[in-house]
Amino acid sequence: MDNSISCASCHVLNEGGDDNSIVATGIDGKQGDINTPTVLNSVFNFRQFWDGRAKSLEEQALGPIENPIEMASDFDILVKKLKETEYKELFEKVFEDGITKKNIANAIAEHEKTLITPNSPFDKYLKGDETAITKEQKEGYDLFKNKGCIACHNGVNVGGNLYSKFGVMEDAKITNLGRYNLTKKEKDKHYFKVPTLRNIEHTAPYFHDGRTYSLHAAVKIMALYQVGRPMSEKEVDLIVGFLKSLSGELAKKGSK
Ligand code: HEC
Ligand code: HEC
Repeated sequence: MDNSISCASCHVLNEGGDDNSIVATGIDGKQGDINTPTVLNSVFNFRQFWDGRAKSLEEQALGPIENPIEMASDFDILVKKLKETEYKELFEKVFEDGITKKNIANAIAEHEKTLITPNSPFDKYLKGDETAITKEQKEGYDLFKNKGCIACHNGVNVGGNLYSKFGVMEDAKITNLGRYNLTKKEKDKHYFKVPTLRNIEHTAPYFHDGRTYSLHAAVKIMALYQVGRPMSEKEVDLIVGFLKSLSGELAKKGSK
C-alpha cells in the first residue's frame, strides 16, 4: 500500500459517486475490468457489487482495501498505520477495542449510510408537489412505467433490489458472466444486480462494461435488450428527461 488511493479516488462524491471512467483505475494505474458503480444511496441496495457478492456495506468495504488492483493493502498494515494517526483516538471514543479490521469496516459502512441524496425533483413530486417535475418529465415517467422499465428499476433506489439478466430479449454481447462467476449455475449467466437509477445523469459511462457515455444510448439499449421493443427518439428523450428528475442533493456532511 502506498497511500495513493482512497475510496474517493474512484467514488468522487460530488460527481455522482463514481469515477466517470469505463473501468476503474487503481494502484499504480492498474486497470480493473468493471465499471465503478456509485456509492451514493448504496445503503438502499439489497446486495453490493454488480454480481451481488457482498451482503452488506461492511462486507463490501473489506473488498477494495485488500484488492490487489484497487488499493492493495493489508489489514495488519492498515491497522498499524491508522494507530499512528488521529484515528486512534477517534476510534477509541466509539469502539471499546479501538482500531480493528471489523471496526474499520463498520466505520466505513456507517459513513456510507450518510451518502444519500434526498429531495430529487421526482421525490418531491411523489410527496405531492405537482410542480416539482415538468409536463415532459411526467410523460417520461408514464413511459417508464408503460414500457416496463419499472419491472426491474423500482423501489426506493429505482433499482438495486433484484438481479436480472443483461440481454433478456436479445443477446447483449457481453463477456462478463456476472453472477455465474459466483454461483457457477448456468441460469445465472449474464445476471447482474439491477443498478439504481438515482443520479444517473452524473454517473456515465453506463453498464457494468461502461459501453456508452450517453444516457440516450443507454435507454435505447435497455429498450432493445431488456424490453424487446425499439422506441421512437421522442420516447427515448422523454424517458431521459424523467431520469434527470432522479438527481438529488448530497448532504454537505458527507463531503469527503
Ligand atoms: C480503484 C477504484 C476503487 C476504489 C479505490 C474503491 N472502489 Fe468501490 N468500487 C469500485 C468498483 C470497480 C466497484 C464494482 C466492483 C464489482 O462490482 O465487482 C466498486 C463497488 C463499490 C460498492 C458497491 C456499490 C454497488 O452498487 O454495488 C461500494 C459500496 C463501494 N465500492 C465502496 C467503496 C469503499 C468504501 C471504498 C474504500 C474502502 C472503495 N469503494 C474503494 C471501484 C473502487
Ligand atoms: C428485465 C430487467 C430490466 C428492465 C425491464 C430494464 N432494465 Fe435497465 N438495467 C437492468 C440491468 C440488469 C442493468 C445492468 C446491466 C449491466 O450493466 O450489466 C440495467 C441498467 C440500466 C441503466 C444503466 C445504469 C448504470 O448505472 O449503468 C439504465 C440507464 C437503465 N437500465 C434504464 C432502463 C430503462 C429506461 C428501461 C426501460 C426502457 C430499463 N432500464 C428496463 C435491468 C432492466
